[in-house]
Amino acid sequence: DRSSNDREGILVGCGNPLLDISAIVPMDFLQKYEMKEDDAILAEERHMPIYRELVDGFQAEFLAGGSVQNSLRIAQWILGQPKVAVFFGCVGEDEYADILMEKARSAGLDVHYQIKKDVPTGTCAVLITGTHRSLCANLAAANNFTIDHLDQPLNKALVDNALYYYISGFFLTVNPPSIMQVAATALAKQRPFLMNLSAPFISQFYMAPLLAVMPYVDIIFGNEAEAHAFATAQGWPTEDLREIGKRLVALDKLNPARPRIAILTQGCDPVLLIQRDSVEEFPVTRLAVHEIVDTNGAGDAFVGGFLSQFVQGKSLDVCIRCGNYAAGHIIKNPGCTYTGEPQFVE
Ligand code: AP5
Ligand code: NA
Repeated sequence: DRSSNDREGILVGCGNPLLDISAIVPMDFLQKYEMKEDDAILAEERHMPIYRELVDGFQAEFLAGGSVQNSLRIAQWILGQPKVAVFFGCVGEDEYADILMEKARSAGLDVHYQIKKDVPTGTCAVLITGTHRSLCANLAAANNFTIDHLDQPLNKALVDNALYYYISGFFLTVNPPSIMQVAATALAKQRPFLMNLSAPFISQFYMAPLLAVMPYVDIIFGNEAEAHAFATAQGWPTEDLREIGKRLVALDKLNPARPRIAILTQGCDPVLLIQRDSVEEFPVTRLAVHEIVDTNGAGDAFVGGFLSQFVQGKSLDVCIRCGNYAAGHIIKNPGCTYTGEPQFVE
């Protein structure tokens, strides 16, 4: 076991740093942009007016977002000690980047943004309709991340010295070579590489790069919709989440000494922990309707809670219980935000 002082920089993540612009909107707003209630998509040209419209016409809230950055902020909150987690991603040189940087740093995250001067920082529209939310990410600067950022001497040292790596499926739309490089480092050093299926569109449209990295993935996270999308894209003849999980862990793997694990969340239903020979369930404490502010960020917070324990070498059982704790907490807060001190008891 490392002493807590040795923990600095042990977790490295790469992703899209996005500022969430969140607002409650009527259904016809979604219809106007041909969006679905519970979806996550990348913005196309026709979606670009959304962001301005949200700010001008609704009571929009600005919240730090971006899936991996969310998870790492939550992990930092639970760990307490700053700079355990390091984050790489690309932003512009603007006010939104300043907000993101400030939120990440005040959470204790060690951010090392690549900065692209003439591109705006990415945003994600969070369109809330009742208990549903639809995400539309305009990656902007985040889409400009390049592998040479990881090759800068300081950043290379941070990657080399980490003990755990976490990258979202979302980052597959941006820079697969960076993902492959980090994954290869993890493999060479026999250190865990964790990934997330992130959204159905990743399996639908980015299956080739996803399958290219899968042999390196030690732990794969996903929710029900994402697991089903993966299964469908693979042509697996099953809709059973346990069976999908078993097939996910059975996909080719480069380091057979560390069999793959799949962790599938299903809202307020139990979390499934799938290993080669077993499927275990971890119950979720159902929240009362009046306690729920919004579920946005629940999936990311789950991973954050999990990571906070995993990097301390805790058992999978403790990691998953902390994931459920963290998700439950952020559901009681707007977006992926927290209040007060963490109350997780092992
Ligand atoms: P994310 O964090 O994934 O949030 P979400 O998808 O809105 O969260 P969901 O509520 O849908 O959770 P889930 O379906 O993943 O998990 P589940 O319901 O199983 O994404 C939001 C962020 O994504 C934004 O900040 C945005 O910036 C970012 N983003 C969007 N596009 C991006 C892109 N292209 N690149 C990068 N970032 C991007 O729940 C998980 C756990 O929550 C459960 O296991 C349980 O513990 C708990 N839980 C859920 N529901 C309940 C309940 N009713 N009661 C109690 N606990 C619950
Ligand atoms: Na929330």
